[in-house]
Amino acid sequence: MRVICVFGTRPEAIKMAPVVSRLRRDPLIQTTVCVTGQHREMLTQVLDLFDITPDINLDVMVAGQTLNGLSARVLSGMDDVFNSIRPDRVLVHGDTTTTMAASLAAFHWRIPIGHVEAGLRTYDLKHPFPEEMNRRIVDVAADLHFAPTTLAASHLASEQLAGRILVTGNTVIDALQEAVAKIKNTPRLRESLEKQFSFLDSTRRLILVTAHRRENFGAGFEGICEALARIAERSDVEILYPVHRNPNVTGPVFTHLSGRGNIHLIDPLSYYQFVYLMERAFIILTDSGGVQEEAPTFGKPVLVLRSVTERPEAVAAGTVRLVGTNSAAIVEAVMTLCDDPAAYARFAQAVNPYGDGHAAERIHASLLGRPVEAFEPGRRVA
Ligand code: UD1
Ligand code: UDP
Repeated sequence: MRVICVFGTRPEAIKMAPVVSRLRRDPLIQTTVCVTGQHREMLTQVLDLFDITPDINLDVMVAGQTLNGLSARVLSGMDDVFNSIRPDRVLVHGDTTTTMAASLAAFHWRIPIGHVEAGLRTYDLKHPFPEEMNRRIVDVAADLHFAPTTLAASHLASEQLAGRILVTGNTVIDALQEAVAKIKNTPRLRESLEKQFSFLDSTRRLILVTAHRRENFGAGFEGICEALARIAERSDVEILYPVHRNPNVTGPVFTHLSGRGNIHLIDPLSYYQFVYLMERAFIILTDSGGVQEEAPTFGKPVLVLRSVTERPEAVAAGTVRLVGTNSAAIVEAVMTLCDDPAAYARFAQAVNPYGDGHAAERIHASLLGRPVEAFEPGRRVA
């Protein structure tokens, strides 16, 4: 069977890495990795770390790219790729423009599509924008839906989409478990990480921040930056913000937050660096999808800088709270966690409803038509 995995951004690469490494070990499957290069530096960081050498790189990234320009470059690039590889199946991940355009291209070629991380929904096309639309387009076109949770599977079932739905858990937990084990079991790596972040003051509480969503550009980012500036007035905290390379993010963040003693604005981090810091953080503030899924593993309170989430499972479990982008609401939530140990303890439970580290294994078995036991939170896999 010829399978082509197509992805293009940092989170897709992290979440597809366990699938690629699993498929590449199987001689029954001829696996081609095609990266669109929707991201350049942030993608290379992940490919290097997971030792993935792409067979094809469309290298479509343009600084400050528009969604239509990007879609057009991916869509037309896929013609040559499909023509030369003639895959039996395309695997895509999540909800990016790469994913949507590659799926549309595969649909035009009548190539069956497997969608990893299928079925996430807010049912609000503006939040997240344009990802909610992207993931719905992909799910309409796909015939194999790898849903991370039973909730995601229930969305797909209620939409009466064609094809098979399998609850796999999220592949990000496979990647995370591998990274955590590597950091724990490689003293040189751990020492090197400790050295790289020795500028952090261990007597202060670390607040780790990521924010990059399109729907937060403008007023949302103003609110987030204002809140971070106010939180940084506390002398017992230190804020570390690896800033996403999107110029719509770097612009306001550096303008508003540069030059403050206890706010560190740094380049995007490698996955090991970021995992190490999630473990070290006191609170995580984020609008990222993947971070919402990973952080509950460490029992760290997560405040989500969005008004709605397509990942409500951890909100229901009590380890994640939506705070939006209003500066007063963000400040209030952080102050409560800093000053009220009981409130902090209620949040900080290490429960992860998103996966068990066996998602790639289930996807692999399902591609071969083998029987697969669905992911269930709390159930141990033999
Ligand atoms: C994209 C995805 C979003 C995902 C995010 C993860 C879409 C519509 N959005 O958003 O779903 O959550 O990636 O990070 O697919 N840039 C660089 N170097 C890089 C990466 C980005 O310079 O390595 C800059 C470029 O100027 C680029 C811009 O960031 O044009 C925006 O990148 P783009 O992929 O269009 O959107 P993201 O905001 O990264
Ligand atoms: N991440 C990383 N370096 C960073 C920030 C995040 O490796 O500096 C990882 C993080 O652990 C998660 C993923 O990148 O797995 C999230 O990517 P992003 O926030 O870009 O996208 P989203 O998840 O919102 O689609």
